[in-house]
Amino acid sequence: MQPQAGQSIRTLTTIEAVRELVASARAEGKRIALVPTMGALHAGHVELVRTATEHADLVIASIFVNPMQFGPHEDLDRYPRTPDADIDALAALGIGAVFMPTVGEMFPDGGRSATIVSAGHLGTVLEGRSRPGHYDGVLTVVTKLFSIVQPDVAVFGEKDGQQLFLVRRMVRDLNLPLAIVGVPTVREPDGLALSSRNRMLQTGERRDALALWRALEAAGANADRGVEAMLAAAQGVLQDDTGVQLDYLAIVDPRTFAFANDAHHGPVQVLVAARVGGVRLIDNAIYSVP
Ligand code: PAF
Repeated sequence: MQPQAGQSIRTLTTIEAVRELVASARAEGKRIALVPTMGALHAGHVELVRTATEHADLVIASIFVNPMQFGPHEDLDRYPRTPDADIDALAALGIGAVFMPTVGEMFPDGGRSATIVSAGHLGTVLEGRSRPGHYDGVLTVVTKLFSIVQPDVAVFGEKDGQQLFLVRRMVRDLNLPLAIVGVPTVREPDGLALSSRNRMLQTGERRDALALWRALEAAGANADRGVEAMLAAAQGVLQDDTGVQLDYLAIVDPRTFAFANDAHHGPVQVLVAARVGGVRLIDNAIYSVP
């Protein structure tokens, strides 16, 4: 499929304007891709958008810092917002449109929705245990975006592995008529996963943050010895690193998201979340236990 290079990007703020654009694109027989984001775009997002252009004629990126997926004491107010730079970056990628609604446009009833898409039990473990209601907020806004844009395909990063799993499961459970494409995490040359929250790290914390990737690598290096050895190796790295407050470290079967134990053979997904200074970071990687 052809990216829309050469055309200027359309900045849309209303649901009605998105629906009009989508209706005319559909009338021309175009395939549509959605890249949902919360802005503060970095090279990881660029990869999501680039992937989307391979799957569609019209790519719409959304930028919306969704209040429903932040807990009362989380970093909603501090979350980085760089709308002008984001529009420039998306325009440079030649995509058709960016949808940047206000909170009032998405949630006219005071920033919340009475109807909630529940992530179920898997929305309450790991990331969902530390951030109660987070994945219900994610799935609710993602469902709204799917309903507004009605894309043929939507593109998500693999960095939030649990989110990607839950979105895929929701699409299957609810028979939503679109395909989900996952894009591998983009890393700095030293391995740090790109994240919009990285820009909140203070000097010195950037170095500490690398412990997450080093822990994943240590787990991977011990895959031949089984799940318990992988966990112990990763824990060793994180314990050594005093600048890092571990939230969780876990190994699941990526096909079911069930916790894996030493009896497990086959693919495993190692997930880690930790606080570095005031910033909460997550990362994950998939390995194979022979
Ligand atoms: O991954 C994110 O940036 C957000 O959770 C998403 C998918 C845009 C929903 O707000």
